[in-house]
Amino acid sequence: MTARILVMPGDGVGPEICREAVRVLEALASDHGLDIELEEALVGGAAIDAEGVPLPESSLTAARAADAILFGSIGGPKWDDQPRDNRPESGLLRLRSELGLFANLRPAILYPQLAHVSALKRDIVSGLDIMIVRELTGGIYFGKPAGRHMNANGKREAFNTMRYDEDEIRRIGRAAFDIARARGGRLCSVDKANVLDVSQLWRDVMTELHAEYEDIELTHMYVDNAAMQLVRAPKQFDTLVTGNLFGDVLSDAAAMLTGSIGMLPSASMDTNGKGLYEPVHGSAPDIAGQGVANPLATILSVAMMLRYTLDRGDLADKVENAVGYALDRGLRTRDIMDDETQMASTQEIGGAIVDMLR
Ligand code: NAI
Ligand code: MG
Repeated sequence: MTARILVMPGDGVGPEICREAVRVLEALASDHGLDIELEEALVGGAAIDAEGVPLPESSLTAARAADAILFGSIGGPKWDDQPRDNRPESGLLRLRSELGLFANLRPAILYPQLAHVSALKRDIVSGLDIMIVRELTGGIYFGKPAGRHMNANGKREAFNTMRYDEDEIRRIGRAAFDIARARGGRLCSVDKANVLDVSQLWRDVMTELHAEYEDIELTHMYVDNAAMQLVRAPKQFDTLVTGNLFGDVLSDAAAMLTGSIGMLPSASMDTNGKGLYEPVHGSAPDIAGQGVANPLATILSVAMMLRYTLDRGDLADKVENAVGYALDRGLRTRDIMDDETQMASTQEIGGAIVDMLR
């Protein structure tokens, strides 16, 4: 069956990096029997400019109909004075909630060729390959009540609510156990069960769910310790699963273990395997339009799409290997360059990957 892929390039470097990722998809279609149909839609500032809103109904309709979405990046100074609910970012937030994309997958993989770019010592990070699974549509970012007011003492007061029900926990738990099974078979659930009621429920549900996944090793860790362990000895982890707030912080910390933001892909998935795939970085307005943006985060997001939505793990391996070969050849965009390597443009990197795939 032909898979429908919607490309949403967005703003800043988004269109440049998506162009290279699309070339990769086209090469896989023409040379490796990948059966896809590509379509494009407006989102973010580009959609505000064209239609006045960051997520036009036509884009949302196309996103619903698609099997997978390749998303560039959105935002930029041009739209900073838009009212908060009409900013480019709200287009992505709405897309996530309308499509029920509850599972955010953030791998942190260190390519051996880039060990020197990491902030940590080489032996701590070399060979690093971990996956953080973050719950994306619940928890304290969405819990009610939330707000600000004057309290009885005439002081300003503000509050948010961290809330999960057992179905929400089970849903993200299943996704994480399935991913751990396809990887190294070890899952670490991160919470704050020594302090928070919501974390105690989280831990109970994860433990119950483990009965369905006896082949997977399940451990629990408090979030403060997890933050420490991620920096001290990150290779002890295989797959981590955690709630929205803890996952936001831990995944950004883990990202820095690998060096450049230009190398980090992500996926946001629903219960049926549909996913939105995007680089972790933003629209990088400081380098947009110069042809220097690193397209590898987006190309590696295509690899995740192949693995998790299109059921073509074989092609995902090919793309990831091609990225490795390009790095072996010393090809680097500016963000990952050093004295011994040569600077390549966005397009040259994309072209090198396409050549290796052909
Ligand atoms: P950013 O990730 O866009 O840029 C941070 C730094 O990393 C900049 O120096 C940039 O040049 C560099 N960088 C980012 N991607 C790169 C790449 N592919 N190759 C080489 N260098 C790269 O974050 P920043 O500057 O905080 O935000 C810029 C805009 O992006 C803002 O409007 C922000 O709201 C938006 N944003 C959008 C996201 C999304 O679309 N999902 C996520 C994060 C930020
Ligand atoms: Mg973040």
